[in-house]
Formats: sequence, C-alpha cells, structure tokens
Amino acid sequence: MNNIPTVMIIFGGSGDLAHRKIYPALFNLYRSGLIHDNFAVIGTARRPWSHEYLRGQVADAVHETYGEVDETDLEAFASHFYYQSHDVTNVEHYVTLKKLAQELDERYSCQGNRIFYMAMAPSFFGTIAEHIADQKLTGSGFNRLVVEKPFGTSLETAEVLNKQINGSFDEEQVFRIDHYLGKEMVQNILPLRLSNPMIKSIWNKDCIKNIQVTLAERLGVEARGGYYDASGAMRDMVQNHIFQIITLLAMPEPASLADTDIHAAKEALLDSLEIPDEAEVAAGFVRGQYGGTETTFAYTSEPNVDPESKTETFVAGRVKFDQGPLAGVPIYFRTGKEMKEKRTRIDIVLKDMAGIYGETGENSITIEVDPASEIYLTINGKTIQGGGLRRERLAYKFSPEEQAQVPDGYERLIHDVFVNDSTNFTKWKELKRYWEFVDAVEDAWQKQNESGQKPLTYAPYKMGPAESKQIFANPTDRWIY
Ligand code: BG6
Repeated sequence: MNNIPTVMIIFGGSGDLAHRKIYPALFNLYRSGLIHDNFAVIGTARRPWSHEYLRGQVADAVHETYGEVDETDLEAFASHFYYQSHDVTNVEHYVTLKKLAQELDERYSCQGNRIFYMAMAPSFFGTIAEHIADQKLTGSGFNRLVVEKPFGTSLETAEVLNKQINGSFDEEQVFRIDHYLGKEMVQNILPLRLSNPMIKSIWNKDCIKNIQVTLAERLGVEARGGYYDASGAMRDMVQNHIFQIITLLAMPEPASLADTDIHAAKEALLDSLEIPDEAEVAAGFVRGQYGGTETTFAYTSEPNVDPESKTETFVAGRVKFDQGPLAGVPIYFRTGKEMKEKRTRIDIVLKDMAGIYGETGENSITIEVDPASEIYLTINGKTIQGGGLRRERLAYKFSPEEQAQVPDGYERLIHDVFVNDSTNFTKWKELKRYWEFVDAVEDAWQKQNESGQKPLTYAPYKMGPAESKQIFANPTDRWIY
C-alpha cells in the first residue's frame, strides 16, 4: 500500500523518543513510498522551536540513525514537518493546533486522515485525550491514536485513561505501543510454534516441563530515577513486555492471522490467567534491589530515588493459565536492572522422557531475542568415544546480511499504524488482565512492606538475588540460563 495521506500530530515532538525512533522510522517509511507527497507531521512540545528548527532536528535524527542518506530526499522529507509550541493543559493551544492541522490537510490533500501520537510524559496522556475530544481535533477521514507506555500505573488509573481516550477514539482506533511486539524474534514466536509440525506437536503440558522468560539488562536506572522509583520492574517490564511474550507463548492457535483473530485468541487465554493471592506472591515471587560497589551506586543512592525506597529493580515470578495448550505448565519470568548482561531470551524446557538412557540433560528450545536473533534446540546425541551422551545445539539464525535487514521495532509498528494493522499492539482487554495480575502482586508487596519486609539487595552484574531459584513450583525446575 503506498502513499497513505495523513496529518500526523506528535505530542512530544522535541523529545528523545521522537528523535531516536519516530523521525528515523518515518524517514524510512517515506523512502519506501508508504508516505510520500500527501503527508504532514506536526511536532508539538513546550519549547519555542520554529518549523525550520524542527526540520533541522529531524535531519539530525535521520543522520544519527542512518549515517549518510540522499540529502535531496531528506530535505524533501523534512519539508513536511511543522512545529507548534504547545502547553498540553492550555485549551487555546488546541484551537491553534486544529487550525494548523486543517491548513496542512488542505495543502497536502490528506483527506481528513489523522494520526495522533502520544510520545511524552504519560501523566499528560489523559489531558491530551480530553482536549482532542472537547476541541474536536479529529478529522473527517480516518483517525488513529498511538499511545506509548506506561498506560496507567494500576488498573484503576488505566481505566480512567481509557475512558478519557474513548471520548474521541473507539478501541479499534487505539494503538497501544509495546515495542517488544515489534522485535523480530518476538514476532517469530507464533510461526515457530504453529508452522512447524515438529514443534507444534510438543507444545503441550505432556511435553513441556516449564517455560522461562528472562529480560536481563546491564544498565541501571540511569537518569530515569524519578519515573522508575514510582514504577519498579513489575510495572516497567512485566506488565507489558513480559506479559505480551508469555501470551504469545501460551495462547491457543488463532482462527487466522487476522488481527481480530489474534486478539480473540489472546483474550481467550487471558480469561484463564490465575491472579495470585498473597500466599502465591510469597511463595512464587522474589523482588530485589541492586546494591552498590566501590565504583557504582546502589539503587537507593541513584539520583531522584528515595533513599528509603522499596521499589524493586529485579523481579522473578511465575504465571499459570488453566486453559490453552500450556494449561498448568509453570511459566517463570525474571527481569532486572544491573544484571550480568543485556540478554532477552526465552527457554522452553522439555520433560525428560529418555527411557533406556536413564537421566539425560533436558531438551530445550531457546529463542534469543536480544542482542542476538536466534532460535536453537538443545538435544542429546552420542559421544564419539564410549556410550555416553553429549548435548548439542541445532540453530536457526540470521547471516549478518539478514540481520542488517531487520527493521527497527518502531519502524514496523508505525508502519502498522499507517496500514491499520493492530496485530502487534496491546488491546484494552489484554492490558486490563495484565494490570489485574500486577496489582495483585503490588498489593501483596505493599502488605509485606507494612510488615517490615523489604526487597532483597543483590550484587550488581550478576543474575539477581540467589533466592530467585526459590520460586520454582517443581523441585526439579531450575533456571537453565
Ligand atoms: C522500556 C523500559 O520499556 O524497555 C526500560 O521502560 C527498559 O526500563 C527498556 O530499559 C528495555 O527495552 P529494550 O528494547 O532495550 O530491551
């Protein structure tokens, strides 16, 4: 599909996300012809920039991401950008914004199509949504809203925000971004499961012993202490990224690849998500905070972090469904800041059925999401000398040339918004269930805090607190990575 006429309004046009991700992604979509002559982008933010200044920023952003590009192309692309200094709480500014959008719509023949992109501090999402509604900013063609995370800080706040958004947008017009759903290997989960008879036939509780999802990060909270301290690993990584990965692993086979069928299958699974009670949180979850070393800060000494903070920078936990192909299979997850290395990986551990070979090493299927893109099966074979067994990997991986062709997740997802494909976005019903789960854990932790229990301190650049191995539901389970 080519040249989709659109006026795009980016709230947060001077921000880091727009610079690093959105502008470079739009440039690639422009080069591919998806947007071409009939588009305009309005960047809004508080700073008093001019159109020219924004265009310079857009050009810088493109160079920083792609290096040398065709300058004539880039200039033509940047000429479609306009800036409006905007205070999101000031109604007058929406009136001006509406006028500018209408002018640009006519100038570029955009047919009344609008994409609104909320890429700024989440505390303003609701206010912006309300003013889009009361000032009637939507156009006469299609209207779509892209919302960054976090979508609320609890079920209650997410519901309020959703209501505000529903003032102008129906659910099918809302694209809640989870950038993990744009990652190549996350998009490979369903094809791996459902296009390989060999794997499809073992994807059940009789063959799978457990699943382990690890989102480890090497970096600490850096300059985001203020945001992070009110959030923690559970809200920052589990509520969205980890749950979306788990959903793709455990959902039943959808009726087709249509976005509506994918979401229907996800919702069917999530109806059977077990919400943990206090006893389950005590038994199946471990939370931690990174400590300091001679050369690194402890979490509680990071800028903008409460020195008495009980916010977790690490969490390990478990999830169970009572429906779907993995009904009853324990799914373990862990994520943390200042862990051993940046590594996003999924391990599917199979049951031992070796029979006459006695106890063997488990077979497993590993999906490496970041930094490598790779899938491998770990299997047993015969040692060359003697009758023992050895373990080997059978790998599915990209050549460096293929790896270089993998688009950035944002480019994929923004493309999907233009073509109205909501497959890789979070629908309200999914989000709601994720919050129910996260709220239950947060409430249990709150009670633990009140009784004097704190997150465990862990040494930086290791795999989190040693106690994270106590969350296993079965005595023979262990982290295989
Ligand atoms: C974001 C979190 O959603 O994901 C960050 O807010 C985290 O805290 C980031 O660092 C990780 O994303 P990625 O793509 O680098 O794994």
